Amino acid sequence: MIILNPNYIYINNSFKENIAVAFNKRIEAIDSLERLKEKYPNAKVIDGEENSVLYAGFINTHLHLEFSANKTTLQYGKFMPWLDSVIANRDELVNICDNALMEKTCKDMLRSGITTFGAISSFGTELEVCEKTPQKVIFFNELIGSNMAFVDALYSDFLIRLRASQDASSNGIIPAIAIHSPYSVHPIVLKRALDIAKDENLKVSAHFLESQAEREWLEDESGEFLDFFKKYFNASKPVTTIDEFLKSFDNTPTHFTHVVQANNKELEYIAKKNHSIAHCPRSNRLLGCGRLPIEKLIALDIPFTIATDGLSSNSSLNIFDELRSALMMHHAEDLGELSKLLINSITSIPAKIFNLNSGEIKEGKDADFALIKLPSKPTTLKDIALQTILHTKEVERVYINGEEC
Ligand code: BEZ
Ligand code: FE2
Repeated sequence: MIILNPNYIYINNSFKENIAVAFNKRIEAIDSLERLKEKYPNAKVIDGEENSVLYAGFINTHLHLEFSANKTTLQYGKFMPWLDSVIANRDELVNICDNALMEKTCKDMLRSGITTFGAISSFGTELEVCEKTPQKVIFFNELIGSNMAFVDALYSDFLIRLRASQDASSNGIIPAIAIHSPYSVHPIVLKRALDIAKDENLKVSAHFLESQAEREWLEDESGEFLDFFKKYFNASKPVTTIDEFLKSFDNTPTHFTHVVQANNKELEYIAKKNHSIAHCPRSNRLLGCGRLPIEKLIALDIPFTIATDGLSSNSSLNIFDELRSALMMHHAEDLGELSKLLINSITSIPAKIFNLNSGEIKEGKDADFALIKLPSKPTTLKDIALQTILHTKEVERVYINGEEC
């Protein structure tokens, strides 16, 4: 048994002083240090340093580990030149992304307090690293393929990867399905994958309405994607529409990534069907996709997470860097309220979306924690979320299932 005694604990949406947490693999009790010591006289007591704040471990729901080798290769600024650069450099980037590099990337995430992450897996090359990493991994096997000539082969490959991740489920892997996007997945295989998700109770994620170009292609069969599809697939029509794609997920609450270009009607539909959104502010900025109007998500009660996306469209997977960007990007929101919502968007909200027994400091939850230290004493308890986001680069300690990592 360990008793962790920080200065402040984020619990039930507020910051509390003079309480500590006792845990083994799971949280056993939350009470004053004196009472916990009485109850568990043999527990090891760890005092947090001055101005320490304890949070539930952080959850980053969307990233691409396989693209961790990108630093200065891919073209930023606009979506289509970026996608072209991905296609031109994909083989080389994935080839040089060896286990050592992916292990380092996971370690870096751990230092920013990430105890669970969602890995979008295009090729399955990161499975071994994800099995070994101390973090829990929602392993999203990605399905891609819009061209009928290739869909069967691509679907078979997807199934093999999915089954391999299911075989790894005893090693902290939570098998799941990712649909690449509406423009790149044929409805025939989309249906097959969603049937599997329903039958086997697997979580689903999908990139959706990331760029203006995607919207133009799906809506008007025009824009920059027309040249792209002519060049690579000899196609001049999309395989689906926005409405048809969205409707396919009616019975499968899905974690849609980006959704920057959705209109009000589509957002209302997403809310009605109990979907959620992964919001990647730095990726959206770097690929010229625009700003997700989170004020609309808040008004519609659409749960959203803050996620980093991969190093293919970001400069770090440090979740504090992402929270700082979100704080600045959504400048019209109340600073204190937004800060708390951002903390919830990497703890309790993703835990609820993915049915994880974590994301909250509460008896019975997994003992996943991120302990941070503020540079000096906060003047008021209510500003701690904001001060945490502004000042934290790395955590002091991180625990997963009660083990310090
Ligand atoms: C496709 O298979 O349709 C596709 C693959 C990659 C990017 C865009 C489309
Ligand atoms: Fe992504």
